[in-house]
Amino acid sequence: MMDYQRIFEEELRNIRSNKLLRFMRTIEGMQEPVVRINGRDVILMCSNNYLGLANHPALIKSAVSALKLYGVSAGASRLVSGTMTAHGQLEHDIASFKRTEAALVFNSGYHANTGIIPAVAGKDSVILSDELNHASIIDGIRLSKARVFIYRHGDTTMAEDLLRTLDRKSSARNPSKKLIVTDSVFSMDGDIAPLKELVAIAERYNALLMIDEAHATGILGRNGSGAAEMLGVSSRIPIQMGTLGKALGSFGAYAAGSRPLIEFLVNKSRSFIFTTALPPAVCAASSKAIKLVRSRPGLRKRLQDNILFLRNGLRSIGYDIPLDPTPIIPVIIGDADTTMRMSALLFEHGVFVSGIRPPSVPQGTSRLRITVTAAHTKKMLGQVLDAMKTVYRLL
Ligand SMILES: Cc1ncc(COP(=O)(O)O)c(C=O)c1O
Repeated sequence: MMDYQRIFEEELRNIRSNKLLRFMRTIEGMQEPVVRINGRDVILMCSNNYLGLANHPALIKSAVSALKLYGVSAGASRLVSGTMTAHGQLEHDIASFKRTEAALVFNSGYHANTGIIPAVAGKDSVILSDELNHASIIDGIRLSKARVFIYRHGDTTMAEDLLRTLDRKSSARNPSKKLIVTDSVFSMDGDIAPLKELVAIAERYNALLMIDEAHATGILGRNGSGAAEMLGVSSRIPIQMGTLGKALGSFGAYAAGSRPLIEFLVNKSRSFIFTTALPPAVCAASSKAIKLVRSRPGLRKRLQDNILFLRNGLRSIGYDIPLDPTPIIPVIIGDADTTMRMSALLFEHGVFVSGIRPPSVPQGTSRLRITVTAAHTKKMLGQVLDAMKTVYRLL
């Protein structure tokens, strides 16, 4: 007879001995720049609440009003009876924000990527994927059963070579369906994908292009709608996905694009069809967040000031930090054990930064993934830099 408990325990022992055991810390209270964990106040430097909207009074007010107006649950999937006014309003707000014909709300970014990709690409398709794409994109690709080619991180020459070879091999009468998919801001490195070049090669080789704006929505671009807006290529990217649970401080995700694309996803995307719709109060909070991002550019300005301050401060300590305009600051350590020891020592000094290890990042690139928000004060960031100076000796 199989002893399943023993199998679980053995696997956990393996994980533990490789220093890869994962654990959770519980925050007692709101997602603020200083949070209480185990009765201690620590500066939170690993949240994706980049604009500090998760506890913003205007979002809370919108959610509470919607709770009273619509109740707690949507009660069913969108196509059965779960579509409520708040969903339609949010989709309208997203389409207007992203300047697309239409938008569709998904329950999370994970749902969106695992729902959009298999809908638009199948066994008869080829997918080109950046090697550092998020796990939810990788899982979406696996579900699609398409043939996948991984190109080196940001290497558009390699992507183009792959497309050229594919075109040479497929006949004019039977061209292959091609999808290029990339994070627009990479979740563990904070760098920006070469969207202009990707747009050009997608157009040249007649491939669909899909971008994941999870870490760009609300942050980049003149109106804060993302990296596509910042790089002036928004209207040339047919599938734009993004999340609502990071800079927008709420929860859920979206696909934005043409009306036919959105109607196609409503009919074909299994993670949209076969799940209970988002609670309406969550949608109301997201709508309010979009309104705040659009009407208060000062929020993004404050975030950019903090990004520059922290990146420069870390560089002056001696850390090798690029100057990307994004709040994800990777401090690559390499070894998982050292990374976790640095994370623990930072915590002792009142700074909460999670260590990120494989499989979230490639082997040998364990890191402290520091994230900064608009809500951090310069005084807090000064304390973070002092702590980072202290842990530098562990390297
Ligand atoms: C690039 C990227 N895409 C998608 C997701 C998934 O989004 P969600 O947390 O809403 O499921 C994440 C992170 O969680 C991400 O970093």
